[in-house]
Amino acid sequence: MTISMSPTAPPAPAVSKRTPRFWLGILLAFCTGVGLSLFAFFVRGGAESWAVFALGVASSSFLIAYLLVDFRKTAEVKKQVVQRTLELQEANRRLKELSRLKDEFIASVSHELRTPLTVIQEGVVQVLEGICGPASPAQRQSLSIAVRNIERLRRLIEDLLDISKIETGRMVLNLETFDLREVVREAGRSFLPRIQGKGLELKIHLPEGKVALYADRDRLAQVFSNLLDNALKFTRKGFIEICVLEESRRQIACRVSDTGLGLAPEFLSKLFHKFQQAPGEAANGVKGTGLGLAISKGIVELHDGRIWAESQPGQGTRFTFTLPVKTFPSQAHAA
Ligand SMILES: Nc1ncnc2c1ncn2[C@@H]1O[C@H](COP(=O)(O)OP(=O)(O)OP(=O)(O)O)[C@@H](O)[C@H]1O
Ligand SMILES: [Mg+2]
Repeated sequence: MTISMSPTAPPAPAVSKRTPRFWLGILLAFCTGVGLSLFAFFVRGGAESWAVFALGVASSSFLIAYLLVDFRKTAEVKKQVVQRTLELQEANRRLKELSRLKDEFIASVSHELRTPLTVIQEGVVQVLEGICGPASPAQRQSLSIAVRNIERLRRLIEDLLDISKIETGRMVLNLETFDLREVVREAGRSFLPRIQGKGLELKIHLPEGKVALYADRDRLAQVFSNLLDNALKFTRKGFIEICVLEESRRQIACRVSDTGLGLAPEFLSKLFHKFQQAPGEAANGVKGTGLGLAISKGIVELHDGRIWAESQPGQGTRFTFTLPVKTFPSQAHAA
């Protein structure tokens, strides 16, 4: 779905800039005209001095007339600038309104699609598992493909809902105190079969002691899952590594690195923008929507953290996100 929003505001009129040198020139010319007139009138006298006097008066009058016309033009241009500014403000307001409507539309369509999709998924899974009677191998094969595609569609809908919540400031964090190491271990466990299935190694480095965080556990699990999913998609040989470091008493850093295809330096600046996928080899045959990193960035920033990537084409990519260590509010009050 593409909604184009291009209010065409007319270009603002060009306003000529008058430098101090311009005004100095006008002043000098005016003074020369007046000076000539006075010199001719009082000092020289005689017929030819009248001619010089007339010339001086004419040049001064010409300058005054020029200034008057110019002031009128400037006032006109200023009026037009004010008019165009108002038009631009109106266009901007309409753009914001359209953007809000688009976000609401995406959110409501995604929400409406989710419920029937869950019902379809349950029905297909029941037939596949033989709950509604035995299915032939050919039927089971078709149903398995259907389940995989329903799952993809469900993920896409969830991603659209998440990005729309982030962009409209409606994502609410469900804060609790937990040990981050558990989240990492769970993420590792769930990705291990696919990582090993691709002939890759998974390395996990965690601090010895508990890493207690007051944060949204599920949302942070989602960030790890997005990063691991990418690492898996774009790595053909070598390893994937997760590392949690306690940088200080106030901040922890999490890293997900791979020895995969890597990214071109010019792509790094737009890596976290939605629907951005690296051109060429990295995207070949690997399907995605291009929302995973934009959502991860949104989640990390909602936790007052930061996320960035470093990459060497052909060598691999390393994603790092930092999280401030916050305490449960009642603990903070007690302290
Ligand atoms: N570890 C990585 N190695 C190489 N390229 C990466 C890596 N992670 C992300 N990218 C590039 O960044 C793009 C955007 O990633 P993102 O996770 O946002 O979207 P996606 O994986 O394509 O789709 P989605 O996550 O929505 O299923 C990817 O398509 C890929 O081109
Ligand atoms: Mg992804």
